[in-house]
Amino acid sequence: MTFLPSLIAAAALTVAAATPAMANLELAQKKSCLACHGVDQKVIGPGYKDVAKKYKGEKGAEAKLVEKVLKGGAGAWGPVAMPANPQVNEAEAKELVQWILSLK
Ligand code: HEC
Repeated sequence: MTFLPSLIAAAALTVAAATPAMANLELAQKKSCLACHGVDQKVIGPGYKDVAKKYKGEKGAEAKLVEKVLKGGAGAWGPVAMPANPQVNEAEAKELVQWILSLK
């Protein structure tokens, strides 16, 4: 029965990994991001998984997107602009963008 402890360790790891992602989803909800964005699907703005795909491996994407979340902007996905989001500070915007870019 040597496999059992590693099985438990793996389960514990899964739980530890799930918690920050859920905290970020909650933050996105609390900051009204989810009024315009789905995780899986487009609403008014692009789905967050599509955003992750678009910028996968792109250097500087994180800084660019943090700036865009804070100040708003248009043109990357279509003519509809994202308004500025003064309800998030820079640290929160960074946390949200890091979470979005980590989605698969
Ligand atoms: C009023 C609707 C609305 C809200 C609220 C909103 N967004 Fe957006 N968002 C959009 C639209 C529309 C776009 C597409 C803009 C474009 O085409 O350049 C977008 C684009 C984005 C992008 C991709 C930008 C790019 O240049 O590719 C990210 C990342 C993003 N939003 C994150 C957020 C986060 C985080 C929040 C919450 C703090 C948020 N959005 C709140 C409408 C919204």
